[in-house]
Amino acid sequence: SVKLGELQYMHDMAVCVDKFGKIVAVEPQRDLENVMENVKETLCQKLAWDAHDLAVTIAKEGQFFFPGFIDTHIHAPQYPNAGIFGKSTLLDWLNKYTFPMESSLASLPKARRVYASCIRRTLAHGTTTAAYYATLHVEPTNLLADLCLAAGQRAFVGRVCMDDRDVNPAYYRDESADEALARTRAAVDHVRAIDPAFALVSPILTPRFAPSCTRECMARLGALRRSYGGGGDVEELPVQTHIAENAAELALVKAMFPECDSYADVYDRHGLLGARTVLGHAVHLTDAEISLVARRGAGVAHCPCSNSALTSGEAPVRRLLDAGVGVGLGTDVSGGYSASVLEAARQAALVSNHRAMPVGKWADVPDGERERARLSVEEVLHLATRGGAGVLGLGARVGGFDVGLEWDAQLVGLGLVAERPDVEHEYEHGHGHHGTRATDRGNVDIFGWETWEERVAKWVFGGDDRNVKKVWVRGRLVHERE
Ligand code: GUN
Ligand code: FE
Repeated sequence: SVKLGELQYMHDMAVCVDKFGKIVAVEPQRDLENVMENVKETLCQKLAWDAHDLAVTIAKEGQFFFPGFIDTHIHAPQYPNAGIFGKSTLLDWLNKYTFPMESSLASLPKARRVYASCIRRTLAHGTTTAAYYATLHVEPTNLLADLCLAAGQRAFVGRVCMDDRDVNPAYYRDESADEALARTRAAVDHVRAIDPAFALVSPILTPRFAPSCTRECMARLGALRRSYGGGGDVEELPVQTHIAENAAELALVKAMFPECDSYADVYDRHGLLGARTVLGHAVHLTDAEISLVARRGAGVAHCPCSNSALTSGEAPVRRLLDAGVGVGLGTDVSGGYSASVLEAARQAALVSNHRAMPVGKWADVPDGERERARLSVEEVLHLATRGGAGVLGLGARVGGFDVGLEWDAQLVGLGLVAERPDVEHEYEHGHGHHGTRATDRGNVDIFGWETWEERVAKWVFGGDDRNVKKVWVRGRLVHERE
């Protein structure tokens, strides 16, 4: 996705990736031999590569490479609950399903089972980067980071902060801001210990949402965000939280933080709004809040599956984009029912169509503005890749196939000709006894009239993990479909 709404199709191209996982060349495939020679002669010498280590993966007919998906908002400990929400809405859903499940993951063996299958499943869906909320427990959160590193999934791993003693249940909360901060530092330090340069796994500060946190907790997280440096190449810590998801939540925030101008202002006053702040949902932000978010350089995780499942609303994605706010996609498992970013992309397109219909609260919106709300296949795929990369501050590292970016990619197969074995049919000619063998190549002609744009649209609306044949992160093969 070269820019919002524009996919660049590179036919018969070769992408060369070095052993550090970086894309070093993108060349026409007819020059593949030249490329390989060049790699062998120059790069191998320069980088002391062994030419025998070179591996080639070729997309068969009907297959294509696509940048890995970026899930900017997913709760790993809620993975077992995916699909379970009934008719609940946010605040009762948290109490009924979510806090009990999260608190049960204090058990390390249980956390290991849940997190390992969550990582396996998201990789199988082509998610090469995930911004994970864990739980408030330090050891299980650290285990999630360990498992991401071992599985090779690029990840942000956040220990959830929730120290408010009224909103959070007694069985699942930090007992004080001190405790929230100490546990947060322990989780940050662990990630730094296992991946000092944050090459694959990064910590992320995670105040659950304003109602869950005291002012002291948020202010100290804001200070930690800015003060973090540690002498490395890491400047500010990223932050993730929820914002303006649901009407009852808005009322709660207003009652709890009367001194603040708005929900966004709560985070801003506590130093939590900045570049690499990922705001989940943002369904009900006012224009003033959107402009504040844009000024601070914070981004939004658009979670359409969750917003529909929990009856939260339809996020104003076009307004956010028009205001210059970066937007990525989030599955928001298990507010969202699916761990697939492709499903989130599909739902982003459908929900945007709802905003374009002249019914309900959109009836009074002028026709042109309503029509503009619609998101195309090309746009939702942008959100799923480069959009998410931008929101997470990874725009210079992943999201596309530019030279210099890292090879986070999926090999997608559409079940075309190459997927089917050639079927030999006996054709009877006339009434004779001599059958003539002909090869039936299945639906080859059907694909003769489809453009690649149409094939990609079919993938977005009808595809799933069966189409994801192989997945790489930083050049490492991390998933292969049998
Ligand atoms: N707001 C606070 N916590 C959560 C959560 O776990 N999921 C969603 N969707 N919204 C939240
Ligand atoms: Fe969420």
